[in-house]
Amino acid sequence: MVDKKQSSRTFKKNILCIGGGYVGGSTMAVMAYKCPRYKVTVVDINRDRINQWNSETLPIYEPGIEEIVRATRGKNLFFSADIDKAIRDAEIIFVSVNTPTKNFGTGAGMAADLQYWEKTARQIRDASDSNKIIVDKGTLPVKTALAMERILTATKDVQFDVISNPEFLAEGTAVRDLLDPDRVLIGSRETPEGIRARNEIVEIYKNWVPEGRIITSDIWSSELSKLAANAFLAQRISSINAISAICEKTGANVTQIAHAIGLDKRIGEKYLSASVGFGGSCFQKDILNLVYLCRHYGLNEVADYWEGIVRINNYQKERFIFTMLLTMFNTLVDKKICLFGFAFKANTGDTRESPAIYIAKRLAEEKAELVISDPQAIENAKKDLADVDGKMRYVEDPYEAAAGCDAIAVMTEWNLYAKLDYEKIYRAMAKPAFIFDGRNILDHKRLFDIGFNVFPIGKPKLSHFRER
Ligand code: UDX
Repeated sequence: MVDKKQSSRTFKKNILCIGGGYVGGSTMAVMAYKCPRYKVTVVDINRDRINQWNSETLPIYEPGIEEIVRATRGKNLFFSADIDKAIRDAEIIFVSVNTPTKNFGTGAGMAADLQYWEKTARQIRDASDSNKIIVDKGTLPVKTALAMERILTATKDVQFDVISNPEFLAEGTAVRDLLDPDRVLIGSRETPEGIRARNEIVEIYKNWVPEGRIITSDIWSSELSKLAANAFLAQRISSINAISAICEKTGANVTQIAHAIGLDKRIGEKYLSASVGFGGSCFQKDILNLVYLCRHYGLNEVADYWEGIVRINNYQKERFIFTMLLTMFNTLVDKKICLFGFAFKANTGDTRESPAIYIAKRLAEEKAELVISDPQAIENAKKDLADVDGKMRYVEDPYEAAAGCDAIAVMTEWNLYAKLDYEKIYRAMAKPAFIFDGRNILDHKRLFDIGFNVFPIGKPKLSHFRER
């Protein structure tokens, strides 16, 4: 039925995206929505994911995405598992396959694992019988486009122009970021063919992005911009988290400091919320990629500088555990600890690199009993902790989750946690009751007045115990 509709319309362009994850799925949905004259197809090797995109329950949770998919699916947005056919039919192919950090061999723990990406390049080459523009949408190490060109042009007479178009969307605000991006960056070779291909991609974005926000560059600058943007953002968080450690020692308040420095226009107020640490699929991966690249070029001082961001992030998570341990009388054995939130940030079910994973593992190591609560991420949490020894329960309702616990640790800044009835929660908890607010989202004074011992990040603790 869908096929009939497809063939009964003539589209101006056939656009394909290989990889139907967060980035590929959301970007193509918005592109289809804003470009009704283009046919947009998304393929993935994971048939389940394609089936989910074609069902009522989409494979990702992202505010606004359902409406957009509903408005476009079957009209000019299609999800398919027939990758070779889709490649043949497309004039422009976006590649958005995952490039996780390598966990084996040379560069393990640092470099990007390019196996899926390289398989995709070969598949495009083998299935193509006409010229195509290939657009790198994932985060890839600098000079990957060059490797892509080499693979693509190794056997055939078909012309491939490789473009870099890094994605800057953040999860939870993906649709908004895509509809109204700060900028769209498109990099190409500075040859006549490269510039022609780049202009074709500019034309797509011009359907909804003001021209002044579409910027073009050479291909390596485009690739490196993505790594640099994420490194700068993460650097701000590690900087404020480093300040939070000093605040806890000196009695200063990190929120007041963030406010005071953020008002300086040269600094700005964003990405200055101290937390238990940053997570997500990009920040750590991209920084480690950058570090690997620097080491490859012998830039050890530069590598050390960027690596410091990840080191501070790990330190911040460990510091959180240390505060819990120290405060709860130096033992967590058999203590019941409830994690409020498991997603790496609010408004997503994604738990990749979530600080909650590390915290849960460390608490299990200390032989605490865990109760994990989250409005969206419980299923992912179960997978993340499947191999961890220890007592764990998963309870979505926060009241039920906290009942009988010695402590609550806030891991994710879900709005709902700020609005709970903490008197009711306090009554149902073991005493003394502790709250460790890893996101500084709760009303600490009020919690203290209720009876909790409260430990925020980078602010004076509010404890009912007398200092000796
Ligand atoms: C990030 C970049 O923002 C985006 O441009 C890029 O394309 C992908 O990586 P994302 O990982 O979705 O996006 O989330 P982001 O909102 O940037 O948050 C990353 C982590 O930092 C989260 O764990 C978040 O909770 C944490 N964070 C963010 C802080 O701890 N403090 C802050 O002030 C901001």
